[in-house]
Amino acid sequence: MLCLACETNPEWVDVAIANPDLILVDHALCEKKAAAFAMAMLNRYPDKSRLVLDMIELAKEELDHLDIVARILIARGIEMTPDAGNPYAQQLHQHVRGQEPYRLLDSLIVGAFIEARSCERFSLLAKHAPTAEMRELYASLLASEAGHYRAYTDIAREYFPVDAVKARIHEFAAFEATIVKNLTNQPTMHG
Ligand SMILES: [Fe+2]
Ligand SMILES: [Fe+2]
Repeated sequence: MLCLACETNPEWVDVAIANPDLILVDHALCEKKAAAFAMAMLNRYPDKSRLVLDMIELAKEELDHLDIVARILIARGIEMTPDAGNPYAQQLHQHVRGQEPYRLLDSLIVGAFIEARSCERFSLLAKHAPTAEMRELYASLLASEAGHYRAYTDIAREYFPVDAVKARIHEFAAFEATIVKNLTNQPTMHG
């Protein structure tokens, strides 16, 4: 799917559907982090108009998703927890080069991969989640996350040559696949 070089381990699906409440709590934290990342990009690159406008739009959509998931949690009597961080995303960020303009390119590609992997996992949950309500929730979020993948890659192509973007996506696909193959199937969105 999209730019991904490997599929999620089917064992993760078994863990996820056995722990729907834990997945929901982590999902809420992921939406929060996705909105925060968009705001951080806007904060770091205020001179890039296309990026600024797209990040505002993306942050609004991620906050809408957070609102949906937070309301489901509250209706179920589940509290959100402090954010312990996302090891998958942290490992991807370790591949971001420190020097500009590479930092911008790599950060956009990291954003794209997190969206793409989220999209793949939502598609699995849309098929396998234990209740119709949950399957509908994940199905409803799928298209939006695919759109976010495209937003990040479109912004990258706005500021960098198409071939450079393609080459770096190819490199990140290998990094990301290695990270995913070493995941331990935790009850989190990217576990
Ligand atoms: Fe989202
Ligand atoms: Fe997203």
